[in-house]
Amino acid sequence: MEIKRVGVVGCGAMGAGIVEVCAQAGFMVTVSETNDDYLKKGMTSINTYFCKSVEKNRITAQDKDTILTRIKGTIDIVDMKDCDLVIEAVPEKLDMKKHVFSQLDKICPEKTILATNTSALSIVDIAIATNRPDRVLGLHFFNPVPVMKLVEIVCSIATGNATIESAREFVKAIGKSPVVVKDTPGFIVNRLIMPFTLNAIRLLEQGIATKEDIDTACKQGLNHPMGPLEMTDFLGNDVLYNGCIDMYEKYKDPQFMPPVLLQKMIAAGWLGRKTGKGFYDYK
Ligand SMILES: NC(=O)c1ccc[n+]([C@@H]2O[C@H](COP(=O)([O-])OP(=O)(O)OC[C@H]3O[C@@H](n4cnc5c(N)ncnc54)[C@H](O)[C@@H]3O)[C@@H](O)[C@H]2O)c1
Repeated sequence: MEIKRVGVVGCGAMGAGIVEVCAQAGFMVTVSETNDDYLKKGMTSINTYFCKSVEKNRITAQDKDTILTRIKGTIDIVDMKDCDLVIEAVPEKLDMKKHVFSQLDKICPEKTILATNTSALSIVDIAIATNRPDRVLGLHFFNPVPVMKLVEIVCSIATGNATIESAREFVKAIGKSPVVVKDTPGFIVNRLIMPFTLNAIRLLEQGIATKEDIDTACKQGLNHPMGPLEMTDFLGNDVLYNGCIDMYEKYKDPQFMPPVLLQKMIAAGWLGRKTGKGFYDYK
């Protein structure tokens, strides 16, 4: 199915980024928020992003004006009624997402594909809130959306092949690289990066190398743009901890068990950049 008009539900960190890449790629985009204040905040961040793109000579001022005309903000989810694809980017709470999907199922035509940007929830658990589980899947974008090339297309047991193919074409059309993965906790990227990062923390905990040398080894030896400890400080040590506990509960696999050092850092409030201290000092 050809996708022309895209809906995005939620204009926070991820939703705004998804709006930006879709509008820049030429799609008409409708983005919804819960109230005028959140909508204004989201639209301002989108506008700022395109102003900075002009300053950096990535687009012209005329391009910016044209792109912005493709974006329509709303606080009424009924405005998603004309969309061929709707991407939900509301907070990571199953009940909240199921409510959005059940609303979209009633509002959107039968052909509309409904996607979730969930990082960790099961797609089928969300799909059952609709009467079209064959047209529900995950489109897992990475943060920051305009920079990160990958989108994981996450297929539940009920997702139809035609839906997967339409999603693949859409992801390519917005200039991203699609990978297709089954509906399993962590999908591909988090399932690989979490044990890797926890092992880096274990190396530090066991005194095998300094934090600087662990990060340098990964940057210089593996060509990673950031070392795992720097990266964890950037994302938030609590975010890693909660994600790993969730994966441990789902897989019962000890490789997802957070090391004691990480637990102690969280108890001390060393959550990374956002608290001024994590593996490194940011004060
Ligand atoms: N932040 C990340 O690094 C990241 C990366 C990949 C995936 N995700 C996933 O993306 C989703 C969104 O995360 P985020 O970081 O953008 O969250 P966020 O809190 O920044 O944004 C969520 C937005 O959704 C809005 N919202 C809530 N209910 C709504 C509704 N019913 N209708 C319209 N808008 C509604 C909120 O007002 C808020 O602005 C989550 O599922 C998260 O797990 C996040």
